[in-house]
Amino acid sequence: MRRPSVKFFNLLELEGLAAGLIPRPALDYIARGAGDEQTLRENRLAFSRVLVDQRVLSGSTGQTLHTQIFGSQLRAPIMVGAMAHHGLVHPSAESETARAAAAYGTLLGVSTVAMQNLEQIAAASKGDKWFQCYLTRDSGFNRELLQRAHAAGYKAIVLTADVTVGGNREHDRRNALHLPTPGNFLDSEGRRRLLDLSFDSGLGLDSLDFVRSHSAGLPLIVKGVTTPVDARAALQHGVDAIQVSNHGGRQLDGSPAAFESLQRVANEVRGRVPLIFDSGIRRGLDVFKAIAAGADLVAIGRPVLYGLALDGRHGVQAVLEQLEQELRIVMQLSGAGTLADVRDTPLLRIGSGSEPAG
Ligand code: FNR
Ligand code: LAC
Repeated sequence: MRRPSVKFFNLLELEGLAAGLIPRPALDYIARGAGDEQTLRENRLAFSRVLVDQRVLSGSTGQTLHTQIFGSQLRAPIMVGAMAHHGLVHPSAESETARAAAAYGTLLGVSTVAMQNLEQIAAASKGDKWFQCYLTRDSGFNRELLQRAHAAGYKAIVLTADVTVGGNREHDRRNALHLPTPGNFLDSEGRRRLLDLSFDSGLGLDSLDFVRSHSAGLPLIVKGVTTPVDARAALQHGVDAIQVSNHGGRQLDGSPAAFESLQRVANEVRGRVPLIFDSGIRRGLDVFKAIAAGADLVAIGRPVLYGLALDGRHGVQAVLEQLEQELRIVMQLSGAGTLADVRDTPLLRIGSGSEPAG
């Protein structure tokens, strides 16, 4: 395999490396969080509050990471999360990321507000993709997008529930950030369509029904759930999976660390539907802990954009491979040969002796 032109040894150092390549306003948009960035910090800190109950003498050698979800085959329980505007960091935008996800062997989340339109991204690779849906105030347009996603071969719809208004992103205001019009909002001549495409601030449980009724039977995932009570309501509304996420600390500053939310939501869901997790994953150890806490699959956010900035598809692939390699080491050293073994590994909460974190 071709080595990336920029060497890195972990995902945490990518932001610093990419900072030399990404103009400041775009870097702030990607890297920073809402408000005082308490949630952004907590997303990382929460992982360090639990430790792995390490087993030795398991006799296990080699790890099985293969994962299936809604008929898609993934090389590892690691997917690329939906993010807007990949074109801020690479001229081939989301198409380049799509090629990387497919080459690595995993799913790509495609944002409603991607730089390219959903058909262009679908055509860029053979890999499976999920369409991340934001509902706008124009329900005809919402219906159209869902139908287009189905027609273009997307395998599931992810309704993001935590953006009923933009988070308080002070840096973007200070930088007077101007983002290009998303590809899905342009007409065939490249002009912005004359519709009210601001996001629907009244998202409710009926929005789940709306999306389901217009997505031709595709599995429905609700993203942005952080509480057991919302998980229960979403399950009652028949969602096929739940994505625990606080949008990487970009929306409600003061929301708990996503990893804390995962532990609470997993207790509520008890395996009835798959759990996807994102917000703060930077290490294979974080992936391990997320699975041990009940996640079936994790989504990677910012590091993917840094990899894309540094070396296009090769950079993104290298990010995913680095995470996988780290996960393999943690599994080998903790005696977990399979993802089921990871799930069975107790997490110990720091400060409470050997009490399992649940
Ligand atoms: C996002 N995220 C996001 N989520 C979503 O559902 N639709 C979107 O359009 C976007 N756009 C977006 C842009 C950028 C630049 C970032 C960094 C993130 C949130 C994303 O899916 C995920 O929840 C977070 O990125 C996870 O946090 P970390 O791991 O990146 O810190
Ligand atoms: C963001 C929106 C687009 O996080 O989801 O920037």
